[in-house]
Amino acid sequence: MKAAIMGYGTIGSGVAEILRVNKDLIKKNAGEEIELKYILDLRDFPGDPEEKKLVKDVDVIVKDPEVRLVVETMGGVEPAYTFVRKMLEAGKHVTTSNKALVADKGAELIRIARENKVNFLFEASVGGGIPIIRTLNRSLTGDVIEEITGIVNGTTNYMLTKMTNEGSDFDDVLKEAQAKGYAEKDPTADIEGHDACRKIAILTSLVAGQQVDFNDIDTEGITHITATDIKYAKAAGMKIKLLARSAVAGDTYAARVAPYLLSPSHPLYSVDDVFNAVFVRGNMLGDSMYYGSGAGKLPTASAVVGDLIEMLKHADKNIYLEWKEEKLTLGNPEDQENRYFIRTSASKEQVKEAFGEAEFVDAGIQGECGFITGLLRERDYHEKIKKLPDVKNMIRLD
Ligand code: HSE
Repeated sequence: MKAAIMGYGTIGSGVAEILRVNKDLIKKNAGEEIELKYILDLRDFPGDPEEKKLVKDVDVIVKDPEVRLVVETMGGVEPAYTFVRKMLEAGKHVTTSNKALVADKGAELIRIARENKVNFLFEASVGGGIPIIRTLNRSLTGDVIEEITGIVNGTTNYMLTKMTNEGSDFDDVLKEAQAKGYAEKDPTADIEGHDACRKIAILTSLVAGQQVDFNDIDTEGITHITATDIKYAKAAGMKIKLLARSAVAGDTYAARVAPYLLSPSHPLYSVDDVFNAVFVRGNMLGDSMYYGSGAGKLPTASAVVGDLIEMLKHADKNIYLEWKEEKLTLGNPEDQENRYFIRTSASKEQVKEAFGEAEFVDAGIQGECGFITGLLRERDYHEKIKKLPDVKNMIRLD
């Protein structure tokens, strides 16, 4: 079966590489060879092993009936959305690694794929090489998924791990992450939590069976985490991790992206460096966790190639997937319950007066105190915190 790749950047070239290197194995597993016929990119790649397959006009692929499998690794919503739509309407299966596209247009593209009796798959859009999408769509389908909590951004996990291990400041670690190529030149999407937000929006849409708008998810990044916060975390025997969380709240889900303090007994505590992991609790299954490389050329391309084989095996059939376009109203974040770690220059007496129950953490920092509250609803936290004069930082506990 013939395939095309749209976007010959890091992931797209990784897909081509896997199709070359694992050609025989892929033929064995798919039952048929997957032959790369075109690569769509506006750039030239002189000397590249796939150079002769490069085309600049998307319609060359759209109009070629031989091509039945298409990979989208361009990134961004446009023109990826327009191109993917054209491919599905032309009766071609599409797999994408593009979380921005899936979070924004996933429900619609799944419907268009169904109408055209093809598939739109997106394993690589969350957790890179970790097969979390197929696990939720194909394996855990007999369970009510009560909670999904993930470390789904490799850049920020690397940065927080470095800050923890070396005591370094946020800005220094960011520069180092950029120098090593983990963080992008413009790191906003990672460090402000937007990337993790889109990923948890996708996972929540899948388990809820309908569209979750990422704009509705309260999202906090890691830019306000300092070396002093890390000292407190260590003094409390905990680690700070950027979590993307979603949990059943009545007849809907409540979601949040924020840094959390985790104790060593937490399943995500040991997930360090650029690794990702997703913890899933099912009402029958109980607890489960999926761990691996959440980013990078070959791990992400591996997930794309897995989708290509899945699509080849279901070439004449749409694999049913429930993701309605109607928007899900998420639970009110003010109703969520947490414990909170707070740093303030207020006295211990003022803290006790405001919060009653408080567990003080001594990190040897002069001129301020750090404490952990009891379990509080977010709205009650907001009321009580107004009584403290100078709040330096707040981090939730999970
Ligand atoms: N910027 C993302 C990360 C890439 O750091 O995890 C994978 O989506």
